Amino acid sequence: LWNADSIIEDSIARVREKVGRDRVVLGLSGGVDSSVVAALLHQAIGDQLTCVFVDHGLLRLGESDQVMQTFARHMGVKVIRVDAQERFMSALQGEADPEAKRKIIGRLFIEIFDEEAGRITDARWLAQGTIYPDVIESAGSKTGKAHVIKSHHNVGGLPEDMKLGLVEPLRELFKDEVRKIGLELGLPSEMVYRHPFPGPGLGVRILGEVKQLYADLLRRADAIFIEELRRHELYDKVSQAFAVFLPVKAVGVMGDGRKYDYVVALRAVETIDFMTARWAHLPYEFLDLVSRRIVNEIDGITRVVYDVTGKPPGTIEWE
Ligand code: XMP
Repeated sequence: LWNADSIIEDSIARVREKVGRDRVVLGLSGGVDSSVVAALLHQAIGDQLTCVFVDHGLLRLGESDQVMQTFARHMGVKVIRVDAQERFMSALQGEADPEAKRKIIGRLFIEIFDEEAGRITDARWLAQGTIYPDVIESAGSKTGKAHVIKSHHNVGGLPEDMKLGLVEPLRELFKDEVRKIGLELGLPSEMVYRHPFPGPGLGVRILGEVKQLYADLLRRADAIFIEELRRHELYDKVSQAFAVFLPVKAVGVMGDGRKYDYVVALRAVETIDFMTARWAHLPYEFLDLVSRRIVNEIDGITRVVYDVTGKPPGTIEWE
């Protein structure tokens, strides 16, 4: 019988036996998998664990602080936060192609993670939030694409000579099991049941070239959408929801004046496996409220549209 308590106990025992008194490094992203690993390893080995949290500046509103609050402040986990926003912004400058942006973000992420991990001189182990579906996907794909997709969070590119052993305590677990363990370990349910968020973050939700202004506007629009979804108890009814920044300008009226500013698209989908998805038929009144809030509260956005494309033919993300 599957039981979160016994899985946790068993994993803790296995990790302790494996790493002994050695130091372990973990790349913490704020996503469910790496968060659960952090909580689990903290229970198992306490201070022997150091988490490296690379903030690429493309996270959701308040997310970076939340990660620090939950792990460092609340749980007492050792977390090194790397504020790399400027490095990512300048690396992305002038690049508009989605796959090229992904590569830039992924590479830089690994580079920065390696720099930090390399400073933890006596580290012997690299912990990762690999879960069972990741293992299956990488095994099944000849190109290793699934591997690459999750790569910048799950698979470190540490230099060969570091020779770190791998600690992957979630390797045999499915997502719902990982969530149960997370709750049992005391992680907030808001974190454990959060919608998936792509590794490149807002970098692929800002169409074309990424700019600081776009990221700031998008973060605020996205936060309003998510806040209202939660308030209307719709958040858990959709599988993934977010805002997308369109770098085109549209005219609007504000009081007596005309405005000429950017457009935001809202995307919400229902899906089991993320391979196919239906666009969420959110209530019109709800969409109306979100649209009004975004346009009224965010100077710089004049128009909100709702994406009514399924997958296929669309993808969930716009890039
Ligand atoms: P698409 O857009 O391909 O998305 O229908 C399917 C799921 O994958 C997520 N996604 C990504 N996750 N890195 C990630 O870690 C990526 O580059 C990436 N692209 C898409 C997407 O959010 C959705 O859950």
